[in-house]
Amino acid sequence: MALLERDAWYDLARTTEWTPSYISQNELFPPEMSGGEGIPDDAWATYDEPYKVSYREYVDVQRQKDAGAYSVKAALERVDLYNTADPGWINILKEHYAAVALVEYGAAFQESRFVRWSKAPGMRNMATFGMLDEIRHGQIQLYFPHEYINKDRQFDWSHQTMFTNNWVALGARHFFDDVMMTRDAVATSIFANFAFETGFTNLQFIGLSGDAANAGDFTFSKLIQSIQSDEARHAQLGTPLLQMLIEHGQKDKAQNYIDIAFWRSYRLFTILSGIPMDYYVPLDVRESSFKEFMEEWIVTQFIKSIEDLGLSKPWYWDVFLRDLDEHHHGQQLGTYSWRPTLWWNPAAGVSPEERDWLEEKYPGWNDTFGKVWDVMIDNFVNGRPEKTVPGTLPMICNVSQLPIVGTPGRTLRDISIVHEGRKFHFASDVDKWIFEQDPERYKRHENLIDRFLGGQIQPPDLGGVLEYMGLGVISAGGDDAHGYAWVDKYRGKLQTAS
Ligand SMILES: [Fe+2]
Ligand SMILES: [Fe+2]
Repeated sequence: MALLERDAWYDLARTTEWTPSYISQNELFPPEMSGGEGIPDDAWATYDEPYKVSYREYVDVQRQKDAGAYSVKAALERVDLYNTADPGWINILKEHYAAVALVEYGAAFQESRFVRWSKAPGMRNMATFGMLDEIRHGQIQLYFPHEYINKDRQFDWSHQTMFTNNWVALGARHFFDDVMMTRDAVATSIFANFAFETGFTNLQFIGLSGDAANAGDFTFSKLIQSIQSDEARHAQLGTPLLQMLIEHGQKDKAQNYIDIAFWRSYRLFTILSGIPMDYYVPLDVRESSFKEFMEEWIVTQFIKSIEDLGLSKPWYWDVFLRDLDEHHHGQQLGTYSWRPTLWWNPAAGVSPEERDWLEEKYPGWNDTFGKVWDVMIDNFVNGRPEKTVPGTLPMICNVSQLPIVGTPGRTLRDISIVHEGRKFHFASDVDKWIFEQDPERYKRHENLIDRFLGGQIQPPDLGGVLEYMGLGVISAGGDDAHGYAWVDKYRGKLQTAS
């Protein structure tokens, strides 16, 4: 018997809509879970998912994707990448898996909430596949790093990180709880699917896949391409919702969601993508700088998708463009200096040749960030390594949960407010603005410094802080990825005559 073409039955099969008779529409779809207040009930059926797939087709394609990624992994196991690749690359893997794998699992919950609470039948259907996508992403990104654990305990963080109070985990959890786990279905989809996934996962997954292939890590390259092909599909969940909000007079709300989510995503990706792309990827295989990737994927492509909908660039666009030259360089100085607090070994990325590259990509780097590195290098060369690790903790932003950094001599300032008797510090006017959009949402959270000063971290010293963050418990903390070999290039030039 001939099978019908998908087009002939799809609309009918996915319209799982009915009119409840025992309970009200609001009981079936409580506004705090479903969102979409002000959009008429009959409008939801018009949600037309931009990507249509049947379950049979979905399973077949996903099986092929998995087979591709797992077979490349199996074929390359004998290459022994761990011992042959540049340590900078290996530590990108450590940072990536730990920051991403469990978040993918969390994203399966996000999608499953759409399956139950979205008022749009088309979205419920598409989110079912999104949920299966995210389960696959969680599983495969736990399985791939597992083979490295017996070589290096720092890979154990792939599974552990999100259960710890490591400062990067606090920042990531605060962000993902905000955009992915604690808003209604409409808001979550715009925050997480549209702003975060459409905008930023491209950066990490496509940006790094080219660098991975150049570095000879075809396993990782294939893996993240296979993930991004799923993201590119389910990230489209949010676009029809934005159109519905705009059509029903809620353009300001849509813009506000994007403005908050865009900045929060950007700030997290300065750590996740910015630092590795400009400092850890071995110089000879770097495809583009972080700023160039951002210009391609965010400034050009993502903004086009916003403007095509009739929305505008976020209000802080000038601040953002300036920040692209600065923030992640400050975070690299911070993370490298506080390397014992990391679960990976950071590459310094400031050998003379690497500094030439940084100066070319970010004119003025040597006169600003480079000056701080000069001091650090001087300390290494002249046998004072203890002076390269701070003995105190940094100021931390109460929105991003990341250290407050700026360009030396130019932009570093404390932005703070007192709200209900408590002082909050922010890394930028945009972070402060985000807090002020919804203080009720953010005001109870305590950043690492709040916890330290509040006595939650015992003993109240650096050792206590490291243990609180899981360092020395799950694995040793970070140290220079290359064992400081790069410092040798400065010896002679800088060594003080004794
Ligand atoms: Fe995912
Ligand atoms: Fe996703």
